[in-house]
Amino acid sequence: MDSHQENGDTHHNNGVKKQKLTPLISEDEIREEFSHHLKQVSRINNGSFGCCPKSIIQAQREWQMRFLEQPDDFYFNTLKTSVLASRTLIKSLVNAEHIDEISLVDNATTAAAIVLQHFAWKFNEGIYGKGDVVLMLHYAYGAVKKSMEAYVTRAGGHVIEVELPFPVKSDDEIIKAFRKALMRGKESGSRVRLAVIDHITSMPCVLIPVKELVKICREEGVEQVFVDAAHAMGCTTVDMKEIGADFYTSNLHKWFFCPPSVAFLYSKKSSCELHHPVVSHEYGNGLAIESAWIGTRDYSSQLVVPSVLEFVNRFRGGIEGIMKRNHEAVVEMGKMLADAWDTHLGSPPEMCTSMIMVGLPACLGIASDSDTLKLRKHLRENFNVEVPIYFRPPKDGEVGCITGYARISHQVYNRVDEYYTFRDAINKLMVDGITCELLSN
Ligand SMILES: Cc1ncc(COP(=O)(O)O)c(C=O)c1O
Repeated sequence: MDSHQENGDTHHNNGVKKQKLTPLISEDEIREEFSHHLKQVSRINNGSFGCCPKSIIQAQREWQMRFLEQPDDFYFNTLKTSVLASRTLIKSLVNAEHIDEISLVDNATTAAAIVLQHFAWKFNEGIYGKGDVVLMLHYAYGAVKKSMEAYVTRAGGHVIEVELPFPVKSDDEIIKAFRKALMRGKESGSRVRLAVIDHITSMPCVLIPVKELVKICREEGVEQVFVDAAHAMGCTTVDMKEIGADFYTSNLHKWFFCPPSVAFLYSKKSSCELHHPVVSHEYGNGLAIESAWIGTRDYSSQLVVPSVLEFVNRFRGGIEGIMKRNHEAVVEMGKMLADAWDTHLGSPPEMCTSMIMVGLPACLGIASDSDTLKLRKHLRENFNVEVPIYFRPPKDGEVGCITGYARISHQVYNRVDEYYTFRDAINKLMVDGITCELLSN
């Protein structure tokens, strides 16, 4: 990319007007922004922990120093207005109706706790009946499943999982499976109080037709819908009015270049009153205000949102341009790997975002979750490749099928040779006759 070109897009990015023409970032500048990444590592796993460019780390450091220089003044005169400035930008980006609907919290895990705690109270206070149903996808994130156990099952709720196919071929397969599980939930005459739907599942990663599923929930009388969209911001289109959920959370530290850790939690104004699980002076003043002061701590990751917008607008097309190029690149790399190993992708390209599942050769003998960890460790320690791996147990009667899929990511810092390194590492394991059985824990 040419350093003296300008990002002259004049259209709105989900309602956020470009303030000025910014010079486009050059390849050298991108390299410099991520020069703190270990050079020898092929980091094709942005999905797990995201990334933060140097200029944002610097902006964060400046916020931290402003607090440390005069904390009292910072607390009384700066913190609230600056958190509000970040929330205001997010509100426009995600097309929410009202600023009160947007809270900043630590991460998607915290957001899930905030939402599910509300449902635990409803069960505990006898507002919901024991056995009333909460629905979630079978591929819900592990921590969210644990939260379900802690908040919903323990309070007397009945959790039903939606079994989804994988590999998956179409949205229709997901919609059908969702309807089936919903009918199962309603069969016993129970009320379905909540559906928890991922926007992009983590493992295996699949872009879920969330708008359609929310619509089905509305038609079928599901009371409320929470979308766990931990990966969504910076990875796919995030529009609160279009999606129509009651609650929606996305990390900003995964694909939106914020430092760890910050997420937004949208809560539809008409839905209900949520509370932060950490109670401080602002209790009762609305979730957004409660969340903006949960005691003395470092709030700097929440304050860099304006700087992050400046950063993404240095790329052609801003965040939408980044998303589009990441998607195209990850699909190309996924196909290259699948061709090299004679395997297949876990979903069609339109069902993936900046991450895609690629089948690994069956001869590696991936036979359990612990095998995936062994292989991942082996790739890290022997080939400097960082990539998560998914175990897909064979179904009854399936023989010789692919049982392991790698989840590859593409972010602006990735280079083609990192995917070649991964390809060659797997090829070498095959040539050397290495199977998971031979690898150590
Ligand atoms: C679908 C999903 N939900 C929740 C989370 C939790 O995110 P965090 O660890 O930032 O809270 C993740 C993390 O990868 C995720 O993929």
